[in-house]
Amino acid sequence: MAPRPRVARTLPALHRALARWRDAGESIALVPTMGALHEGHLSLVRLARRRARRVVVSVFVNPAQFAPNEDFASYPRTFDADSKALAAAGVGLIWAPAVETMYAPGFATRIVPEGPAKVGLEDAFRPHFFGGVAIVVGKLLIQCLPNIAVFGQKDFQQLMVVTRLAADLDLPVKIIGAPIVREADGLAMSSRNALLTPAGRVKARALYRELGTLARAIADGGAVDGSILGAIENLVQNGFSPVDYVAYVDAETLEPFHEYREGGRLIAAAFLGPVRLIDNLAV
Ligand code: PAJ
Repeated sequence: MAPRPRVARTLPALHRALARWRDAGESIALVPTMGALHEGHLSLVRLARRRARRVVVSVFVNPAQFAPNEDFASYPRTFDADSKALAAAGVGLIWAPAVETMYAPGFATRIVPEGPAKVGLEDAFRPHFFGGVAIVVGKLLIQCLPNIAVFGQKDFQQLMVVTRLAADLDLPVKIIGAPIVREADGLAMSSRNALLTPAGRVKARALYRELGTLARAIADGGAVDGSILGAIENLVQNGFSPVDYVAYVDAETLEPFHEYREGGRLIAAAFLGPVRLIDNLAV
């Protein structure tokens, strides 16, 4: 059995563990997560292992990115299973600070991301979200000072926001985007999929299927806005409600495209019962 990763819960412990690697001249990759790890997260870890000698995975459910009505309290916490999975994946260090360690009493600083964080999409429905992501990812990058940090394309707008943040703050880290890992029926893996009812789980596949149909229609020269309305209608008929958005955007700036263009991306978010699913697809 692979040895369990070391777990750092305080900054001095984190810095000691990282210094050992750095002093030995070893490159370091950071994979930020909120735990409840699945194959999607583990694919990021495997990519990180290919690109750096050592991997630190942060496991921190970040209160700053949840609105009061969102699922911070009920977000799945499965630390023991996560630590086992990370051991098997060859991870040497888990950074798992308590909320008070990340946000000490008196904490009073914000990062206010613009650009891709302000184009609408997630931001229109979760206005607190990217501010919360930016402060925690900024802190994680400064705490760990990794050579590279890996994020999933599953959260496509987040990947763009984090890439911008690292560049704008001159953080000496390379941000790497990893492809989406899917279930056999196409549903993008997510910690929240476990909250779907069995019937909901069957319906959930419609999201990726509709994105695929839409991508083909757009690539074939179909009318973008009309095709999107059709896809939203199909999602509603499949039990999604509300559909927060389905959009065709420039993959770099996330600004909307109204006809087929190189470098476009379909991006969508919709509720199935209480579970909010997001997905995206290159066109
Ligand atoms: P979390 O939802 O735990 O996701 C951690 C990382 O795993 C993110 O970069 C996400 O894009 C990636 N990921 C999740 N599901 C994936 C899938 N099916 N395929 C590929 N990658 C996938 O995203 C967050 O946490 C937080 O916002 C965080 C960045 C940790 C800041 O708190």
